[in-house]
Amino acid sequence: MRRGRVAGTRMHAVSANPWTSINHARPRKGPRVGGYALQKQVAMGLRLKFNLILTIVFAAGLGVSAYISYDMLQSNARDEVIRNANIMIQAARAIRSYTVAEIRPKLASQLAHTFLPQTVPAYAATETLKRLPAEYHDFGYTEATLNPTNPRDRASDWQADLIRAFQQDPNAKSYSGVRQTPRGGALFIADPIRITDKACLTCHGEPANAPASLIKLYGRDNGFGWKLNEVVGAQVVSVPTAVATRKADRAFFTFIASLCSVFVVLYVVLNIMLGRLILRPITRMARAADEVSVGNFDIAEFEAGRKDEIGRLGVSFNRMRRSLKQAMGMIDGAG
Ligand code: HEC
Repeated sequence: MRRGRVAGTRMHAVSANPWTSINHARPRKGPRVGGYALQKQVAMGLRLKFNLILTIVFAAGLGVSAYISYDMLQSNARDEVIRNANIMIQAARAIRSYTVAEIRPKLASQLAHTFLPQTVPAYAATETLKRLPAEYHDFGYTEATLNPTNPRDRASDWQADLIRAFQQDPNAKSYSGVRQTPRGGALFIADPIRITDKACLTCHGEPANAPASLIKLYGRDNGFGWKLNEVVGAQVVSVPTAVATRKADRAFFTFIASLCSVFVVLYVVLNIMLGRLILRPITRMARAADEVSVGNFDIAEFEAGRKDEIGRLGVSFNRMRRSLKQAMGMIDGAG
């Protein structure tokens, strides 16, 4: 009798809640099974929502930081390659000026009988940078020239195009770009070689004016007929991009992988905390409320150990249960 009344009251009070209506409709025998299944479903719902939002936020964050960091790393890689190329071209210039200032005067007297290519800046720069250690074999330096004294310096097709571009545009100071080579991408920087000093024409003007020792060594067919102010060639350095790009890719994947592992750890820890701190106690409480709502006051009280919101809810629940039990007792007494 008492239970029927309580159940009836409950249905009346909370009939707007579809869950409770189902609860009420279930047979009295075996309420725990149905109630448990229902609460389990609710718990899954919270967890699912929580994880869904967590995943969406993470995916969005991952996307944005992947986009930004990839861009940044690639541009750093480009900067590094450009810096390397510039160091190389500056090193070539330093060798050239060292040769002019320190080597040539010492050996000038030799020129009359033996021509020493070591006194020629172009030779010194090219030969020195050729001696870079093996791991730098992809780094190249040439004084590419359309009509060179030494055939080694003859411009290849793409270098010849650059030289002609410099000839056509006197204001162009430098060209750079990335070329695909059989060994991968290579950044090149090309600066024009313009004859601005008449002294150059001693050896590169008319063969008749050139030192006899030079003619003896190089012949009179190549590297002559250059004109003042003419662009005769280009200093071309080329630096592989693959090393820097690989480094950037590795940094990118390391970053993304560590971000993902932080997320996985966070995900696991948050899920454990969600289960332990929120879902499990709430499920227990819902089950207890279920029991109390059908007049079963035999269940144990919640321990008052926790001081957080759930703990307070437990305390309130205990108090409510006691009040309800008291009220029921009074009603029963009256009836
Ligand atoms: C004493 C003679 C002499 C003078 C002066 C001289 N050169 Fe040369 N130059 C040479 C020789 C010889 C070579 C070839 C060196 C080699 O075997 O690599 C050469 C090579 C070069 C090259 C590389 C392309 C090539 O022809 O093989 C460039 C560029 C060049 N000279 C520019 C200049 C400029 C610019 C000046 C003036 C600032 C100048 N040279 C003055 C003798 C001279």
